Amino acid sequence: MTFEGGDGSGKSTQSRLLAEHLRDAGHTVLHTREPGGTEVGHEIRELVLHHRGDIVPRAEALLYAADRAHHVATVVRPALASGVTVVQDRYLDSSVAYQGVGRELDAAEIRELSLWATEGLLPDLTVLLDLDEADARGRLDAANKRFDRLEAQGTEFHARVRTAFLALAEVERGRFLVVDGSESSSDLAVKIAARIDELLAERGIESATSASGSDVRTG
Ligand code: TYD
Repeated sequence: MTFEGGDGSGKSTQSRLLAEHLRDAGHTVLHTREPGGTEVGHEIRELVLHHRGDIVPRAEALLYAADRAHHVATVVRPALASGVTVVQDRYLDSSVAYQGVGRELDAAEIRELSLWATEGLLPDLTVLLDLDEADARGRLDAANKRFDRLEAQGTEFHARVRTAFLALAEVERGRFLVVDGSESSSDLAVKIAARIDELLAERGIESATSASGSDVRTG
């Protein structure tokens, strides 16, 4: 399962809480993220987020796709194959929203690029933390850390990204759970855990020793 949303929407906190919830329920969980879930990915992350000069949008899209290809092949697929439930911060929907729509590349092409990079791996469930871009910006400002290349984009860019995520969720309603990122962290955690428990029950999975989905879908 994956977590998506704008910068400052609270993804990392919620994915961590979900990973804890699943571990408490007896699952073996891999909590990982993109960009940067591997050693190669860590280097790509530094480049794509902190390079000082310009990176053209197509190069940026390829860097995220390269990180994803390596991460899926070396970390995510092996974990899934051994029955581990994968909880991941950001995946291909981020590329579609940020590069496809934010950077104004073609959203369908960016999706195809990611599907090529991952040989078609899609999540069983994607939690979208939806938050007004001004509120998200307020949270980032309050955190008082230096903005990375994407965070440093203007509110118009982040508004496009938010709209893109919501449109993706609308198209693939079965895969997405959209939650209101302005709710309290504990309320959100309860809602998300309930949906995941429902999903696992539907599939008859009681612990992570059972396979979580077919081999072309993430945990
Ligand atoms: P993230 O790790 O969520 O940032 P942080 O550590 O600051 O919480 O994501 C880093 C940035 O990369 C974020 O601004 C979104 C961007 N991003 C893309 O533009 N495309 C992608 O495919 C991915 C995975 C991330």
